[in-house]
Amino acid sequence: MNHTERLPRNRTYLMCPPEHFTVEYAINPWMDTSVPVDPALALKQWSILRDTLGDLGHTVHVLDAVPGLPDMVYAANGAFSVDGTVYGARFRYPERAAEADAHAAFYGAGGWRYAGPAHINEGEGDFAYLPGAYGGLVLAGYGFRTDPAAHAEAQEVLGRPVLSLRLVDPAFYHLDTALAALDDRTIAYYPGAFSAASQRVLAQLFPDAVIADRADAEAFGLNLVSDGRHVILNTEAIAMGERVRAAGYLPVHIDLSELKRGGGSVKCAVAELRP
Ligand code: ARG
Repeated sequence: MNHTERLPRNRTYLMCPPEHFTVEYAINPWMDTSVPVDPALALKQWSILRDTLGDLGHTVHVLDAVPGLPDMVYAANGAFSVDGTVYGARFRYPERAAEADAHAAFYGAGGWRYAGPAHINEGEGDFAYLPGAYGGLVLAGYGFRTDPAAHAEAQEVLGRPVLSLRLVDPAFYHLDTALAALDDRTIAYYPGAFSAASQRVLAQLFPDAVIADRADAEAFGLNLVSDGRHVILNTEAIAMGERVRAAGYLPVHIDLSELKRGGGSVKCAVAELRP
C-alpha cells in the first residue's frame, strides 16, 4: 500500500510551549546540564511542529507552560486517554511531579472522566494505543519510569487489554523512544530496546511491524507522531523516514534539535486526546 491509499484520521492533540524549557537537572542519559539550550530556537521549532499538525488538519490544544517546570514541553507524559477516559500521570522524579496537576486541571475543565493514579506512570511516554489491534490494545513500557503496577491499574481504568513490555536500555527509557503506532494496528519499533522475551511477544503480535535499528532510535526516529498517513519525525531521522515511506506512509521531517537536549522529540511534545 502506498501513502495515497493510506487514510489519515483527524486527531486532537495537546501541546505545551517550551517557554520555561531548560536542562537544569539530568534524569535521562540525553540530558547534559552543562550545555545551554537556545530558548528562542526551541520555541521556533516547537511552533513549526504545532503549525505542521494544524496544516495537516488536526486540532491542537495548547496547555499553558508553568514556570519552574522545564520539562513540561514534553506534554505526552502528562496523561493517557482512551475513549473519553483519562488515566492521569504520576511522575517518577519529583522535579516533574507538579506537571500532572496541570494536566489534570486541563482534563477536569474539559469534562473528561479523569482517574488519578495510585502508581507511578508517565502517560503516553510509556503507553501507546492501537484501537484496531486486538479490540483496542494498549502497549505499555516499564523498566525505567512507569511502574508495572500502573499497567494493571490502566487496564482497570480504561477497560482495554494492556500488554507489558520491558525496556532494557537506559537510552530508551520511555516506550515512545523505542516504539510508535503508525496507524490503528501497525507499529514501528527498535527491538534492541526491549528484553528478549518482550521482543518475542512483539514479533508474535506484530509480524508486519516496521523494524528500526539502533541508529534510527538514537536519532529519535521512533519518537514520531502519525495520523495514519503522515508520519511526523525528527529531521535527523532520515533513514527512519525512508523506512516508513517504504511501508506506505508519508514522512514529514521537523527539526527539534533543542528538545533532543532534554531527551525527547516529536512524540514527547504531543499528547493525543482520544475523546
Ligand atoms: N526530560 C524529560 C524526562 O526525562 C524528557 C521526557 C521525554 N518525553 C517522552 N515522552 N519520552 O522526563
